[in-house]
Amino acid sequence: MAGERRSVTLRLLAAPMDANVRGYVGGGKILEWIDKAGYASAAAWTGHYCVTGYVGNIHFAKTVTVGDLVEVEARVVHTGRTSLQVVCTVTSHNPRTVERTTNTQCLLVFVAMDAEGHPTPVPRFEPEDAWEREEAARARVLTGARSEVDAAIAAQVFSDATEACRETLRFLAAPTDVNWGGKVHGGYVMHWIMTAGKLVAERWHHGHARATFAGGFRFYRPMFIGDLVEVDARLIYTNGAEMHVSVWVRSGDPRGADLMTTTHCTIVYTAKDELDGDVPVRPWVPRLPEDRALERHAVDLVAIRAKRGRTTPHVRPPD
Ligand SMILES: CC(C)(COP(=O)(O)OP(=O)(O)OC[C@H]1O[C@@H](n2cnc3c(N)ncnc32)[C@H](O)[C@@H]1OP(=O)(O)O)[C@@H](O)C(=O)NCCC(=O)NCCS
Repeated sequence: MAGERRSVTLRLLAAPMDANVRGYVGGGKILEWIDKAGYASAAAWTGHYCVTGYVGNIHFAKTVTVGDLVEVEARVVHTGRTSLQVVCTVTSHNPRTVERTTNTQCLLVFVAMDAEGHPTPVPRFEPEDAWEREEAARARVLTGARSEVDAAIAAQVFSDATEACRETLRFLAAPTDVNWGGKVHGGYVMHWIMTAGKLVAERWHHGHARATFAGGFRFYRPMFIGDLVEVDARLIYTNGAEMHVSVWVRSGDPRGADLMTTTHCTIVYTAKDELDGDVPVRPWVPRLPEDRALERHAVDLVAIRAKRGRTTPHVRPPD
């Protein structure tokens, strides 16, 4: 029954094919799992097909190792009229031990859809315990912060008038990229974004880089199977070992002229040495007006998030 099931937990064993070239499970794969668990809980609560509108405030605290038993728990924490917010917590442990690690926690916004594909009202959620009350209050605060970040992003110009380190991936959305609604799965879109962002960070650093924070994936429009997809990643700011990379995804009919913006995210990567220690990265010193404006924008985003964000997971006590 809609409006009854407050959480869904997916359990899986991290397989060798889930690992990246460094041998651990990267942020892109973890985001795929998060989107699936989040979708399952949003669909269970609303009784409708739901689309991912936003995934944010993701601190990749600890990596997942191949062979780990992984739990991805998604809990509804807040509802609006047609949207709902879900907190997803990823924990893992070696199945031969009992000690569990919290890898990542983040907040997702889903929008419930009716049979015609229009946003439709969702059952109201009332928090019932201290953890839910705290998360519901935080969800409301973050809604305000999101508007501030949205306005800051909208004020930026991303054109070809740049000298920044930049990479664009181009490919067709394949039939295997489909989600439960027949469009491209949001989890795969996030994985593509993480791949393009990492490419830029590693090219700039000339070494290994690990995603430590993803500031918010915004899904503006759906993407369709067979679309031409362009994932455009650009370095906008460096600070110590940090590289801030802004990624835009555009897509459209490959036979048509125009690609439309579908998704955006800014990701922070940390430069690593061969022993996985943090190393300062050579500074990016922008010269052109657009590059300088984007550097200021990155600094502004850090300040906005410092006011409202949380850097450590809020672990729910056992029921
Ligand atoms: C999400 C989407 C349906 C919203 O469309 P829209 O025209 O803005 O719809 P509305 O203005 O009616 O807003 C509907 C709700 O979504 C919320 N919303 C819309 N975009 C949002 C975003 N990026 N982040 C958070 N909430 C968002 C609105 O606040 C509103 O919530 P409320 O009814 O609880 O107050 C549309 O942007 C979309 O289709 N995006 C692509 C989704 C997608 O393909 N995801 C990946 C695959 S599942």
